[in-house]
Amino acid sequence: MSSQHQTPLFDGLKQHAAKQTVPFHIPGHKRGTGMDPEFRHFIGENLLSIDQINIEPLDDLHHPHGIIDEAQKLAAEAFSSDYTFFSVQGTSGAIMSMIMAVCGPNDKIIVPRNVHKSIMSAVVFSGAKPVFIHPELDRDLGISHGVSVNSVAKAIRNHEDAKALLMINPTYFGISADLETIVETAHHYNIPVLVDEAHGVHIHFHEELPVSAMQAGADMSATSVHKLGGSLTQSSVLNVQGELISRSRVQTVMSMLTTTSTSYPLLASLDTARRYLAVNGRQALTNTIKLAEDTRKQLNAIPGIYCPGRELLDGKTRFDFDPTKLIISLRDLQIDGYQIEQELRREYNIEVELSDLYNLLCILTPGDTEKTAGRLVQAIKQIAAKYFRAEKPVTDQLNVDIPNIPILTLSPREAFYSETEIVPLTESAGRISAEFIMIYPPGIPIFIPGEIIENENIDYILKNKESGLPVQGLEDTTLKNIRVIRRQEAIR
Ligand SMILES: Cc1ncc(COP(=O)(O)O)c(C=O)c1O
Repeated sequence: MSSQHQTPLFDGLKQHAAKQTVPFHIPGHKRGTGMDPEFRHFIGENLLSIDQINIEPLDDLHHPHGIIDEAQKLAAEAFSSDYTFFSVQGTSGAIMSMIMAVCGPNDKIIVPRNVHKSIMSAVVFSGAKPVFIHPELDRDLGISHGVSVNSVAKAIRNHEDAKALLMINPTYFGISADLETIVETAHHYNIPVLVDEAHGVHIHFHEELPVSAMQAGADMSATSVHKLGGSLTQSSVLNVQGELISRSRVQTVMSMLTTTSTSYPLLASLDTARRYLAVNGRQALTNTIKLAEDTRKQLNAIPGIYCPGRELLDGKTRFDFDPTKLIISLRDLQIDGYQIEQELRREYNIEVELSDLYNLLCILTPGDTEKTAGRLVQAIKQIAAKYFRAEKPVTDQLNVDIPNIPILTLSPREAFYSETEIVPLTESAGRISAEFIMIYPPGIPIFIPGEIIENENIDYILKNKESGLPVQGLEDTTLKNIRVIRRQEAIR
């Protein structure tokens, strides 16, 4: 009987490496002997000895029946899913697989407007039609949060034929919606709930963190083990549970989207990260949560700095919160987040997770200590002392706004494959956008391909451009022109 202390895939690889077989198969570097020596020396023999291909004892991710299947079953137990698939194509690959496993051409999928680009890629590949829900915009912090139960219920009532509801749990900034109630609502209509859990692998392993997708009863979750769970970059899992999803369909689609040369170091790192999370995760996260709360307190003691905590929660769109995410609001400094990111890099050798005009995001994980967190606090203290503007009223609302959602007239897939042309932005009203344009913050798209451009949207872009907010996505970086779908001439 396997236990969470065991790592069948990692062990199988080590045993195979120890056999020192004479390989006449790929990879041609043959445990590093046939590769650039400097690189071999740098990454080391151990890694190279398990950089293998799917020969007999090592199983096959596309048809798992041996050590990969055992490792995936242990992961299923750890994540409380019915089955867990390993992804060597990141969470992007897992997201595309989960959407394409349930949505085909013209099927509706309900999604928050602030989704990651892999979701829009899956919408283009599958031919599905997105029905958008607006996330809540936080005008104090300048970021978008979750979606409310009410807006999900309304979207579902208006689109009972939707094939899936996609949720983000939690957001990049660590805020989650009331996922359990949302899942109940969707299941009432037999609509499966697919969850982008790129920033939430750890939440399943600690009761003080938001509920995970599997705990909330969602049908699938694409979960980045590599981001916050300790596996190597690019390795993720796709968790599946319940009766609404066909496991064999998911396996087929995953296989279609996955390289046939799957990386064994990535797979082994998933096997071992699962052991670490299952065996040590709770204790490690208890320490990380404590470190994060202490760090938050110290940051909040710095004049001009605000690091939000549980006071942000409202029981609705901000239902729960991951305290290991440090949102550092800089709105009372005379310098923006992008500049501070550079100053931290240049002067303090510190790299943040992200910056925007008004915030930095720093993440703490079991890899942090009082020393690393202390370095951040000291650096922010010095920067804030330099740029704090005490005279600025703190009640100002930030210059961020939610754009109107335009009407989708072509599916994003039809738009992607249509002929296009470039027209001046100011003359584009009434045309169909072929571009994906957004303003950051708040990072909500203004247009996706297939949506009709209206004067209101053009005004929104120009207003934000004038006030200096970065408009992203337009092919023409001067923002004068936009790519639209070419008009069909009538045939006479
Ligand atoms: C919200 C969200 N979803 C999905 C992804 C994709 O994850 P991956 O980089 O593992 O493909 C990201 C990556 O940053 C993300 O932020």
